[in-house]
Amino acid sequence: MMKDDLDRILLTEEEIQNRVREMGREISRDYAGKNPLFVGVLKGCFVFMADLMRSVEVPASVDFMVVSSYGKGVKTSGAVAIIKDLSQDIEGRDVVIVEDILDTGVTLSYLTRYLQNRRPASLTIATLLDKPERRRADVDARYVGFTVPDYFVVGYGLDYAEKYRNLPYIGILKPSVYS
Ligand code: IMP
Ligand code: MG
Repeated sequence: MMKDDLDRILLTEEEIQNRVREMGREISRDYAGKNPLFVGVLKGCFVFMADLMRSVEVPASVDFMVVSSYGKGVKTSGAVAIIKDLSQDIEGRDVVIVEDILDTGVTLSYLTRYLQNRRPASLTIATLLDKPERRRADVDARYVGFTVPDYFVVGYGLDYAEKYRNLPYIGILKPSVYS
């Protein structure tokens, strides 16, 4: 079972659900009267984004990007490639980038600059997890679910080698699984 590959559970399903609902309420207040466009960074965002969107009470739109930075390993390569771009113009839109985890910051600092060039009315970041110990690039996330220590974590959308995304909680992967 997937659970056998974990050292322990870091965030339970209930903790995640409660916090994501709070984030949705915060976003609803901040974007009152607006129609934000949520840009999910696939694939890691999909579970978080589905829950977050359903806690947001203002009319919101969705789009997705696919960005590659990791491959199968647990260390970022430092290079970011856009595999799939947005399917719409974002000029004048209030954009919220939705990410699973902010780690070195390389992905989000690149993406922020990339999208800023298209002149959105505003651009903010909502990330479920923040791992500040490993930060290499300057990124300012307006909405952070949880700040976590420097462990490799999986579940609730986050993977290792495309596995564990379907765990409803977030766990610390046993180093023996990837070393
Ligand atoms: P960054 O560019 O280093 O900030 O990397 C962000 C991306 O790396 C995330 O969107 C994840 O896909 C991946 N990542 C970073 N840390 C973890 C982790 O602990 N578990 C799973 N994926 C991770
Ligand atoms: Mg990701």
